Amino acid sequence: METLQGMKRDHHCGELRKENVGTDVVLCGWVARRRDHGGLIFVDMRDRSGFVQVVFDEASMEGGTFHKAESLRNEFCIAVRGTVRARSEETVNSNIETGEIEVVCTELRILNKAKTPPFYIQDGIDVDEMLRLKYRYLDLRRPEMQKNIILRHRVTKIMRDYFDRNGFLEIETPMLCKSTPEGARDFLVPSRVNPGEFYALPQSPQIFKQILQVAGFEKYFQIVRCFRDEDLRADRQPEFTQLDIEMSFKSQEEILTIMEEMVKELFEKSIGAKVETPFERMDWDTAMDKYGSDKPDLRFDMPLMDISEYVKGSDFKVFNAVIENGGMVKCIKVDGYADIPRRRLDELVKFVQIYGAKGLAWIQYSEEGVKSPFKKFYSDETFAKIAEATGAKTGDLLLVVADKRLVVDTALGQLRLEMGKERNLIDPDKLRFLWVVDFPMYEWSDEEKRWKAMHHPFTAPRDEDIEFLATDPGRVKANAYDMVLNGVEIGGGSLRIYNAELQEKVFESLGLTQEEAHAKFGFMMDAFQYGTPPHGGLAFGLDRLVMIMAKRASIRDVIAFPKTQSARDVMSNAPSEVDDKQLRELSIRTAVKKKEAKQEENA
Ligand code: AMO
Ligand code: AMP
Repeated sequence: METLQGMKRDHHCGELRKENVGTDVVLCGWVARRRDHGGLIFVDMRDRSGFVQVVFDEASMEGGTFHKAESLRNEFCIAVRGTVRARSEETVNSNIETGEIEVVCTELRILNKAKTPPFYIQDGIDVDEMLRLKYRYLDLRRPEMQKNIILRHRVTKIMRDYFDRNGFLEIETPMLCKSTPEGARDFLVPSRVNPGEFYALPQSPQIFKQILQVAGFEKYFQIVRCFRDEDLRADRQPEFTQLDIEMSFKSQEEILTIMEEMVKELFEKSIGAKVETPFERMDWDTAMDKYGSDKPDLRFDMPLMDISEYVKGSDFKVFNAVIENGGMVKCIKVDGYADIPRRRLDELVKFVQIYGAKGLAWIQYSEEGVKSPFKKFYSDETFAKIAEATGAKTGDLLLVVADKRLVVDTALGQLRLEMGKERNLIDPDKLRFLWVVDFPMYEWSDEEKRWKAMHHPFTAPRDEDIEFLATDPGRVKANAYDMVLNGVEIGGGSLRIYNAELQEKVFESLGLTQEEAHAKFGFMMDAFQYGTPPHGGLAFGLDRLVMIMAKRASIRDVIAFPKTQSARDVMSNAPSEVDDKQLRELSIRTAVKKKEAKQEENA
């Protein structure tokens, strides 16, 4: 193996252009591909900036160097001294930015060899993600992954600049915190010096950023790691990053405006996308009613429509029973899909069942007339009325669900997304921002048989609803808002309660006794006694934001070292067992047997 001694890198592979022709350069990087043409070897050399073609010509170079070039394999780490030369007309490669030139090598150093990688280091590979994660350092060498990580850097840089320019301070908050209820499950950290006691890793810096407002910092932000022990999905990780923000003395509208301007600047500066402000604001009730979702994807329309009044009072028991029990019958219209295959309809029945619907019905307004499982229960006139009300024309399909409101909305909302994809109605280049506002303060938990905070317990109820906190929690709306982009919740926040009495009332409505509230949040209630300013804020999911900007389907693609679905790091193999001494020091005993003990037992 050779060293770099006496050789100083002065250019990057991907930045060489026609203007550099004739220049002597020193490059460092990796062998992406080697093609051997007898006396001529071509190497695509790669570094962070991109690729360049390096030529080794036996006729014009020292024999030892050519011999060395013959030994090059993919992913060898090399340094090359050479001269930039223009490629001949027929060999210009317009697919790469350096395609008009190549570097003729005069000196080659092999800085390190490489084993044959377990997968190709190139874009668009079809490889099991587990393998990619195990060899993440190779996966991250792939240009598309490098681009994502670089984009992420750009994004946080633009954010920091924006907030600095607008008078915000970045302030760090603790990672070892007090465990508080509500929200997701905590990750716990045992305290060695306080046996039997635990810290929790922060699910968000919520309480600290509010305390920073009590402390008079007025405008705070932080790009901060958060931890939630929840079931994972494509857009959820056990540790993820938030852009966290809090401000004093601002109205909800002012907060939304500052955030819109930040997002506009961010998208323009990082990916050159034009963003129109102000964003549309839609209240939560409308979002649920019209799109069956609190994060509607507005890149296509297809609203949910209520057809209960046209189908009630017939002999069709399914609809009658639902309507009599206070439920409803709603539908979506899929243009030009009256000829949907029967097989596909059967699949869609199963699809809506995932979301709790008991069944799915349809009306096909086909050339040959109306086709529907409930055709015999209704007159032609009724089908004509439904067509008029929904705007269905010949060739269109209505998909119908009858159930309780929440079930109908959820199932049809999901079906709407499925149809949007299936019918190619979603323009992948569109950016559709939206504020969903006026969230309910509470949602009922069937599991725990109590009201839970929909956002979190520090969210301020609307002034006019405060009187219903104790008597009718279901009708209380909160000063809470979510920013939605293309059907993904990218951020959420609220105006906060800043009065100790109101905060106590809200804890009470959530089933916390005064003692419990004080044990958990006493310090916050104390702080509220000392001239707390009105304040509010929000947090963005940085990973989700960058995922959308990079046009990826999973946040794992924009996180350098993400966890798998089962919350593992398969590269370092965390989590892992620890030795007994460590546990003893922490005064911890596990109820789970060690792996070796289990194996012995099984043997
Ligand atoms: P919330 O819980 O809505 O609000 O979180 C804010 C944003 O963080 C992102 N997010 C996640 N991203 C990846 N993996 C996860 N497991 C995950 N969970 C959440 C989402 C979400 O919109 N303290 C409040 C904010 C506030 O009120 O100021 C909070 O944490 O994009
Ligand atoms: P059933 O009486 O259960 O056989 O249902 C008769 C037809 O009604 C089925 O083929 C479905 O098309 C439709 N159907 C049943 N349940 C529902 C429902 N909850 N919502 C919409 N349509 C339904």
